[in-house]
Amino acid sequence: MPEEKKYPPLAKTPVHVAVIMDGNGRWATSRGLPRLSGHKAGAENLQRIIRASISFGVKYLTLYVFSTENWNRPQDEISGLLQILEDVIDRELDELNREGVRLIHIGHLERLNKKLAGKITQAMELTRNNDRLVVNLAFSYGGRDEITCAIKKIIADGVAADSIDETLIGSYLFTAGIPDPDLIIRTSGEYRVSNFLIWQGAYSEWYFTPTLWPNFDKDEYYTALVEYGKRDRRFGKLKSAPQTPVPVPGDAD
Ligand code: IPE
Ligand code: IPE
Ligand code: MG
Repeated sequence: MPEEKKYPPLAKTPVHVAVIMDGNGRWATSRGLPRLSGHKAGAENLQRIIRASISFGVKYLTLYVFSTENWNRPQDEISGLLQILEDVIDRELDELNREGVRLIHIGHLERLNKKLAGKITQAMELTRNNDRLVVNLAFSYGGRDEITCAIKKIIADGVAADSIDETLIGSYLFTAGIPDPDLIIRTSGEYRVSNFLIWQGAYSEWYFTPTLWPNFDKDEYYTALVEYGKRDRRFGKLKSAPQTPVPVPGDAD
């Protein structure tokens, strides 16, 4: 087996990385292949990036697999994509479970066929006690849809207007209990959000790259993490949070 490449330690590791895995279609077309070959290559890369996340010490990885708007694609592309996801689960689940990966689904399982929805539910059940890396599969996911669902649930629960604050809204989203993404990566040279984590990404750092998703490898992932380490996250303040505690006046001896 080839020896694992060593990467210098990172200045700062994001706890939560989210990825808009875009460019599968163009990857295939540029090779004269059908678009589904691009989705297959993309699915293979997904497994590499999950493993790279473990080795870089990332704790949460959210992957935008299929958006609510992607249901508007041609039927054969949709069914091909669903089949690819099912194959990945069949092939990889046991190994991911052994590696300590917990799988969570965010989005709407209802629109998927019963067999696939059942496999995703089983995968979540099997891996529920793992904590090395949490992988959120955003499948049939849309940020506006997520917020709309949250509002409906808040109203159905009879929550009083005075009790509604940002924490409460966060607790009604699909991502309840998961920290906001520190870094969002978008491949394929597009500079847009495409309805991804629009609430949770309010203060995320972004890394855009022209690389098409099937070509986004561990080296470039490392480059994105190095870039993240250079960012000064101010959250609207004038300075980023100090690394060492600020002494409280009158506290010093
Ligand atoms: C991303 O690749 C995967 C999904 C949206 C399902 P695309 O299929 O969007 O690839 P491009 O953007 O057409 O190249
Ligand atoms: C975003 O890519 C969705 C996923 C990667 C799953 P799209 O290809 O659907 O986004 P647009 O249409 O270019 O904005
Ligand atoms: Mg695309």
